[in-house]
Amino acid sequence: ALPNDPEGYAPTAGSDVVVVTSGMPRKPGMSREDLIGVNAKIVKSVVDQALKYSPNAYFIIISNPMDAMTFLTLKDTKLPRNRILGQGGMLDSSRFRYFLAQALTKAGYPATPADVDGMVIGGHGDTTMIPLVSKATVNGVPVSQFASKKKLDEAVANTMVGGATLTKLIGTSAWYAPGAAASMMVESILHDQKKIVPCCCYLEGEYGQNDICIGVPAVIGRKGIEKIVKLDLTKEEAAKFEASAAAVRKTNQVLHEIKAL
Ligand code: 2OP
Repeated sequence: ALPNDPEGYAPTAGSDVVVVTSGMPRKPGMSREDLIGVNAKIVKSVVDQALKYSPNAYFIIISNPMDAMTFLTLKDTKLPRNRILGQGGMLDSSRFRYFLAQALTKAGYPATPADVDGMVIGGHGDTTMIPLVSKATVNGVPVSQFASKKKLDEAVANTMVGGATLTKLIGTSAWYAPGAAASMMVESILHDQKKIVPCCCYLEGEYGQNDICIGVPAVIGRKGIEKIVKLDLTKEEAAKFEASAAAVRKTNQVLHEIKAL
């Protein structure tokens, strides 16, 4: 660190993408939302300094509670919404595919996560994420043709607490799957891959929501969030999305209460 750069951000100067993982991790028994007070301060300080050295960077926010930290970054930096991406949906989707593969295997149709396609949208919280069973397929066929509703409900429930389960097992927050998901997002930006992935995006009317950062499928390319993809949700999924957005909004409200915004 140099005297005029006490925190040592200078070597990051000119970055194309900044991945923000800074903050306190979850301890067993904690929710992601419990971290908001400590992490809001940390994320704000990291983002402000990183932006000073990399004024054209795209930001991928991973710190928890991720949807609120993404919202905070957007409001704090006032950057256009295509440059602020939150990562949770890919991670949650990979857990969903894992549990779906297990459910199919138990039902007598051995499958690996690679055979399965499935997406999680909504907030990145134990009670706010929405694994989309209606859209999940195994080699192109709806999973509901092979596994019972009970087994699929179990896969959904396990997905939703996947992060908490890992935290209990390893004593701290997960890092491998979040790291893998972040690197895929970075590659999609740098190589303009235009991957369609669930991503925490600032919504301006999409999915019936405004002024909120929450997980929806998006095209990620050299311009960051290049397009928010519309899905036809079932009535039940749409209701869940609305409830998820209400919960995320409540967490965002805490940002005002603690004067982070
Ligand atoms: C997770 O779900 C750390 O929130 C992250 O593992």
